[in-house]
Amino acid sequence: MGKDNQPEYQLGPNIHWYPGHMTRARRKMEEDLRLVDLLAEVVDARIPRSSRNPDIDVMAGDRPRLIILNRVDQADPAMTAQWLVWFKKQGWGVLETDAKQGKGVSQFPAAARAALKDKLQSWRAKGQVGRPIRVMVAGIPNVGKSTFINKLAGRKSAKAGDRPGVTRGKQWVTIDRGLELLDTPGILWPKFEDHITGLHLAFTGAVRDEVIETEELACALLELLQSHYPRALEERYKLAQVSGQSPWELLEQCARKRGMLLSGGVLDTQRMSAVLLDELRGGKLGRLTFEVPDER
Ligand code: G4P
Repeated sequence: MGKDNQPEYQLGPNIHWYPGHMTRARRKMEEDLRLVDLLAEVVDARIPRSSRNPDIDVMAGDRPRLIILNRVDQADPAMTAQWLVWFKKQGWGVLETDAKQGKGVSQFPAAARAALKDKLQSWRAKGQVGRPIRVMVAGIPNVGKSTFINKLAGRKSAKAGDRPGVTRGKQWVTIDRGLELLDTPGILWPKFEDHITGLHLAFTGAVRDEVIETEELACALLELLQSHYPRALEERYKLAQVSGQSPWELLEQCARKRGMLLSGGVLDTQRMSAVLLDELRGGKLGRLTFEVPDER
């Protein structure tokens, strides 16, 4: 709990979300949305569900949408392909990017125009030629919004202070002829709708480890890896086979293989948990996606 006994979500370095922040962030998003024709939402391709705040769908109204499926370099390509189809089924445009390397970013203008096809047609029909398309980028912290905006605008460092509800003068960056981008991203808070969402956000490092106990987090990760990516687990920790074991047994095996012992020969599962999470986030387990699209 945070100050005044209100729930506090601690996210990434220096980011604390209190209900007041959420209200301010929401208000700012709603204000900025009024100025734009297209909403581009950045999501983490490893956790495309948990890295979205579904409130954005309400805020966006019937405004055209573009999903920026970012961090594809860290996600399982086969799953990214499935998510691409899923987002398209929602009627939204989708762009796959690795903002860090700048991959896919140059396709943004074309993707934005495609997502706005109907609107552009209706503008043309009304004789509104030369009207610029205005776009804003939004998303929860750590998905890569600033990196994406900087790459798009050809800048080296972010101007955006990534603090909830901070207001500043609006600036527009011309991306391409007739395409303008709001300089600062809309920042949403992650929505902990259930425990799984919290776990997935913690796997990727989007929420601080302290939010969930490290061994619990490691066991949840091992369970997921056991069912979806057993090879990655077996290869990384030189385990013979991972099926039929409890997550705790797997954690102990990993610790044993790494020689992590406390005095008296007790396995140091706490340290192994921290190492597992570090290695996951460092990409040592390969490209992984933790969520499958909903069939409904
Ligand atoms: P935000 O505005 O949504 O909060 O996210 P931001 O752009 O600050 O990015 C958060 C971290 O994610 C940064 O790493 C950034 O480099 C990294 N990142 C962004 N997009 C991608 C991507 O597509 N792939 C990968 N692998 N990483 C990405 P950092 O550790 O904070 O900084 P740095 O060490 O990379 O400079």
